Amino acid sequence: MSTDREVLPVGELLALIDNRTSVAGVVGLGYVGLPLAVESARSGYRTLGYDVLPQVVDGINRGTSHILDVPSPLLAKYVEAGLITATPDASRLRECDTISICVPTPLSKTKDPDLSFVMQATRTVAESLRPGQLIILESTTFPGTTRDVVLPVLEETGLKAGQDFFLCFSPERVDPGNAVWTTRNTPKVIGGITPTCIEVAGAFYSRIFDTVVPVESAEAAELVKVYENTFRMINIALVNELAQVCERLGVDVWDVIEAAATKPFGFMKFTPGPGLGGHCIPLDPHYLAWKMKTLQYRTRMIEVASEINADMPQYVVRKAADALNHEGKSLSGSRILILGVAYKKDIDDLRESPALDIIRLLQEKGADVAFHDPFCTVIRDDGHTTIRGLPMHSLPLTRAVLASADLVVVVTDHTTVDYQFVADQAPLVLDTRGALRSITGQACVIGLSGAVEHPGERQQPRRTWAEVTATT
Ligand SMILES: NC(=O)c1ccc[n+]([C@@H]2O[C@H](COP(=O)([O-])OP(=O)(O)OC[C@H]3O[C@@H](n4cnc5c(N)ncnc54)[C@H](O)[C@@H]3O)[C@@H](O)[C@H]2O)c1
Repeated sequence: MSTDREVLPVGELLALIDNRTSVAGVVGLGYVGLPLAVESARSGYRTLGYDVLPQVVDGINRGTSHILDVPSPLLAKYVEAGLITATPDASRLRECDTISICVPTPLSKTKDPDLSFVMQATRTVAESLRPGQLIILESTTFPGTTRDVVLPVLEETGLKAGQDFFLCFSPERVDPGNAVWTTRNTPKVIGGITPTCIEVAGAFYSRIFDTVVPVESAEAAELVKVYENTFRMINIALVNELAQVCERLGVDVWDVIEAAATKPFGFMKFTPGPGLGGHCIPLDPHYLAWKMKTLQYRTRMIEVASEINADMPQYVVRKAADALNHEGKSLSGSRILILGVAYKKDIDDLRESPALDIIRLLQEKGADVAFHDPFCTVIRDDGHTTIRGLPMHSLPLTRAVLASADLVVVVTDHTTVDYQFVADQAPLVLDTRGALRSITGQACVIGLSGAVEHPGERQQPRRTWAEVTATT
């Protein structure tokens, strides 16, 4: 009897996966869930997406994508073919043989993990859990979440993981806007509650992803993701500190980075910028730090790196004040155009963007701030930001707009922006990304490390007191 229960679900499920008749469920159809649903459909699985937002569900069923990396025509093709359906009806998850959970994992105001979305989604999945289902948590979280938080809720149903149903953690590593490394060709790490769980998830995901990387446990897979993003966060902090070191030494930070990057081994290039943004790098290390605090271990590297990165918007505002000062102007009353507000180039994601902090800080100093961004055309009141004058709309990047700004601050280096035009029309530019490094125009360009990179053709030296008194 118990032998049947152990053998039956896994054998049946593997057969369904193998002949592509299993139904793939995706819970949460955002930046992670929608691309995953598309890849699942592309691999021939009928895919059912469940989301709590009716507008997301309706849009997908109309074939309209709300995610930049998923082109609407591609989505529409799978919707029309019946391979992708979205639903607001959680009970339909019972139709699914595999369920990938891709819901947000934000931080609370006190920077503690907020697992409320994961808990809600897990309870929803538990309500329709049946023997033979594979559940994969994709949301970034601290080690132990799958086993200590998700598993007990699912097992409250009386079903047992590794026997009746299968439970894994597989971190999503998607890099929005990256045309080379996509959902499909980025290797997929999987860790399970039992070896059978890994086997089943491996069988499913190896049909969707080019490479599957099994690790020994769900905890190891959870740690892989937070370690990767902590690695990135710490190295960004290091290069942001380098920019400030260079400022004091009078050295151009880009010169140093480019030369260091010629070392063919033992060095990885990171670039300085105005601060961290997005849903991952600023948040994920805090998940690890929080977990380690519960084990009486202080993750000191994370603390110091967070501090350096969190200070970058303030640093940019100090540089903006210096740049204006260089022209005999003050922040107060100056017209400042923020060029790029998305948290990184070529995407439309504003979440945690340092631009929001920079705008707020500049406004607090009395600056009159506007922005241009080809991807994020409006900044709305999300209930968190204290930016004044919301909604703010992107201004067109015209000659008149650039010429009338006292200062242009390049916060996000979108590749579609014509930086030569910016250098030709703007009087003064603070370039936090090195976007104008190889461009000369009339603008006086100041880099993040403080060097005046291009003095500007039209720059007029101010007369000294001696010159003024000599002519009067
Ligand atoms: N965005 C990225 O670049 C990225 C990359 C790797 C990993 N991640 C991780 O993936 C997870 C999801 O992030 P995202 O960027 O896709 O978030 P998102 O906000 O873009 O999408 C989440 C979706 O989940 C839906 N949702 C929330 N609660 C739900 C519930 N109980 N049931 C069903 N749907 C629900 C929301 O309506 C939303 O559509 C997070 O843990 C994040 O850290 C994100």
